[in-house]
This record gives sequence, structure tokens and C-alpha cells, in this order.
Amino acid sequence: MRVTVIGTGYVGTVTGACLAYLGRQVSCVDTDAEKIAKLQRGEMPIYEPHLKELLCAAAARGGIDFTTELAPAARESDVIFIAVGTPPRPNGEANLSYLETAARSIGAAMDAARFRVVVNKSTVPVGCGNLVETLIREGIREAHGGDEKRIEFGVASNPEFLREGCAIADSLYPERIVLGAEDGRTMETLRELYRPLVEQKFDAPPEVPRPERITRVPLVATSLTSAEMIKYAANTFLAMKIGFANEIANLCEKVDADAIEVLAGIGLDSRIGAKFLNAGLGWGGSCFAKDISSLLHTAQEYGYQARLLEASLAVNRAQRQVVIQKLQEKLFILKGRTIALFGLAFKPNTDDLRDAPSLHIAERLLQLGARVKVYDPIAMPACRAQNPELRIQYCDSPFEAAQEADAVVLVTEWDEFRRLDLARIASSMHQPVMVDGRNLYDPQTARRAGFDYSGIGRARAERPSGPAPQ
Ligand SMILES: NC(=O)c1ccc[n+]([C@@H]2O[C@H](COP(=O)([O-])OP(=O)(O)OC[C@H]3O[C@@H](n4cnc5c(N)ncnc54)[C@H](O)[C@@H]3O)[C@@H](O)[C@H]2O)c1
Repeated sequence: MRVTVIGTGYVGTVTGACLAYLGRQVSCVDTDAEKIAKLQRGEMPIYEPHLKELLCAAAARGGIDFTTELAPAARESDVIFIAVGTPPRPNGEANLSYLETAARSIGAAMDAARFRVVVNKSTVPVGCGNLVETLIREGIREAHGGDEKRIEFGVASNPEFLREGCAIADSLYPERIVLGAEDGRTMETLRELYRPLVEQKFDAPPEVPRPERITRVPLVATSLTSAEMIKYAANTFLAMKIGFANEIANLCEKVDADAIEVLAGIGLDSRIGAKFLNAGLGWGGSCFAKDISSLLHTAQEYGYQARLLEASLAVNRAQRQVVIQKLQEKLFILKGRTIALFGLAFKPNTDDLRDAPSLHIAERLLQLGARVKVYDPIAMPACRAQNPELRIQYCDSPFEAAQEADAVVLVTEWDEFRRLDLARIASSMHQPVMVDGRNLYDPQTARRAGFDYSGIGRARAERPSGPAPQ
């Protein structure tokens, strides 16, 4: 089975690599010639652990190539994935221009030589399956005139649930595969494509071993519209869950309860679950705000007020301000102070800075007259390139960032930060104030190291007891 993946971003490159690893012959297409040239040279355009190794193995198995030419690749393929970006417009609705261009180009490339399935992997508003089908038909009509009835294709939705930073494991051992289609032939083609994943009948790559619990992956077959809705419902729920943890943490601070203890206490309830139930300085990344805004836009189109979704956005916006308030409480004046930010990426193990809380916090601190020093193990080159106007000082180590600073803010919980010599950092600072925006450190350990420590939702009192239940 031959596959084309359109878009070589975080989703497209990983999808292409995994399908080729499973034995499919894959062409990855992008309009960004620089990205394609890098991939052809074996360089990674994004930071994703184990992607490079997987691409090497994929080339040896099914075979994978990279090109800017969509038409020849699409013509030779049985399945064509659309994995282009769907960024938000200022009014919250998804910008579908990349998707529309891709769909028309697929239509123009099609011929009657085979039945093809076009799969929406991009996160798209409900109804985009229909839109893509119409655009493909228009593309066919423009390229082939009245001949279009001979050309057969199906459209499906296959939303992506990978998490940046562990995208390979999420793609090879997913918790579920969701397929939305309206006809049997389309669904059968995709079932066949994903059979090795569903049955888990492939040798796991040594660097990304198969978790023991994974023996078979559930495949959820739905209508097109349901599949599109599942993606939005999943992301909005996850964002809401983090927002809930943050709201509870803020209340914990008021009454001097400890959010770590409280969230551990409720997370053990299997109806709630402990994952994604951590307090912090709020979520970021390319998906949550975009997807909530897009679903809100759909709700508006249907005259429905989705109050929980509105609240999720508002709670997260406010949570980023919590760090600034904590700094103001400790330092009173921020003008002329130096604040060190540990971490820029929106989460560990990625270089992705889209909607990263670090950027919001840095901009706010600069507006308030503070100097901002930053250190991130991976995301600094991307930050420099994408935000040339941001007047922050990039440092080569956390120690350099903290030197003579008035406060440190832990923004991204990179593993490297877990193992820091906190006493060395505290002693090098002008004032050893720490705002731990991810509750990474044990408050007592940080205080013993010399820090004036505050986390998010942590109790003020020292606890005689041991750690909270896991
Ligand atoms: N990043 C994630 O963690 C994640 C997870 C799940 C779903 N998604 C969704 O997947 C989609 C892609 O996300 P991403 O993070 O990979 O985006 P990205 O911005 O990293 O990559 C998109 C790529 O598409 C290319 N492109 C745009 N128009 C094109 C065209 N007409 N032909 C060929 N290439 C084209 C761009 O040049 C870019 O390289 C989005 O809808 C996103 O919401 C992303």
C-alpha cells in the first residue's frame, strides 16, 4: 500500500515515519522547500526524541521519500493524508486555507487508475470532511473537465492524538485509533492500512520499546462528523481538566490546603483519574487554545453558548498571570529586577513554542520593566528565530541565567531541572526567590537549599508527614 502524507510538521513527519516503519511506502510532501531539503539530507526540521532513528529504520523498511511535488506522489498513492496546519484566525475560527489548497491539489492530481482514500489528519472543524470532498471534486473538475465521474475516491477523518515529546510511542502504541468514514470501501482501506498497528504485529524499534500492557489497539470506527468531534472533545476535556486542577490549586492557597495532596486524593478515584490533574502555570502548545476557540466558533455558528469551553480559556489565561502576581508579592517592584526563566518550550522534550506560557510571561515581565534571562536545553534557537523582537537574554546554563537574578521562575519541567544543584543556584542569586510554576521541587528541599520558595497551590506550613500518595 502506498501512502502520501501532505505536511511535514510535527504530525506529518511522525505519521510518515511510523507508516513507513510498518512497511508502507511513504512520500512526505511539503510546500516548504527548506524543510524538505533538510529531511532529504537526514536532518530533522523539528526536535522530537527518536524521530531521526525511526526515519532511518523507516527508509530501510517500507521506504520513505521527501518531496515538494504533490501530484506525482498523490497519483501513485492509495491513501493520502492531509496533515497541514490549521492555525487559529484572530476571531478563533480555524484557518482552513492550507487544508483547502491541499485538497484542491489532490483533486487536480487524481486520475482513474485506482481508488484512493483522502484522510484528514489535521484537526479540522466539524463538517470539513464534506468540505474536503467538495474541494477535491472541484480540483478534479478543473483538471479533467467533464471526465470526473470516472475518478473514484473516499474521504475519511483520522484525528491525531500524539503528544509532542513522546510522539513516536504515541503513534506506534496509541490508546486508540479513530476512523470516521461514510462508506465501507474507505473504511476497509484504512482498516487494512492500520492492521499492523491494531494487531501490534511488528518488531518494536529498540529505542521505543512496546509497553507491556499493549497487545492490541482499539479501533473506533465512526461517522466522519463524530470522528471530527472526538478530536475536539478530547482536547477540550484535557484542557478543562488542567484548568480544574489550577482552579482547585488557587483555592488551596487561600485556605492553606496543599494542591499536590488534594489532587492526589481525588485522582485515585478511577472516575477522575490522576493524569492531567496537575496544578501549574497553565497549559500551552499549538492545540488546546486553538481547538477550544475553534469549537467555540462552531458552537456560535449553531447559536449555542458553550460556557464550560469559554471558562477553560479564561481560567488558563488568568493562570499565566499567577506567576506575575507571586513575583510581585515577593519582590514588590518588578521594574529593574532581573528574572530568570527556566524553560521556554511549552512542555518538556519539544522545541515547540506555539502559545508557550514562557513567551506570555516574558512579555509581561518586560512590559513591567523587568530584565529577563532565559535558559532552555532545546528551544532557544527556535525562540530566537521566531521572536527576534523579544528582548530577553539567552544563557548557556541555568546557572548563568540565575546569576545575580532577583527571582527564578521554573516554567518548563525539563528533566535537566530536576537534578539541579539548588543550593548553588540560590547562593548565586541577588535574591533567592523561586516561583516553581510546575511544582517540580519539594518545597522543603528548595527552602533548605536557601530559596524563598513558592509553588502553585502549595500549603505554607511545613508538613511532618512523608510525600503525598502516588
Ligand atoms: N502538533 C501536535 O501535537 C498535534 C497533535 C494532534 C493534532 N495536530 C493537528 O495536526 C495538524 C498539523 O499540526 P502540526 O503541529 O504538524 O503543524 P506544523 O505547522 O508543524 O506543520 C504543518 C506543515 O504543513 C505544511 N503545509 C501547509 N500547507 C501545505 C500544502 N498545501 N502542501 C504541503 N504542505 C503544506 C507546512 O509547510 C508545515 O510544514 C494541525 O491541524 C494540528 O492541529 C497537531
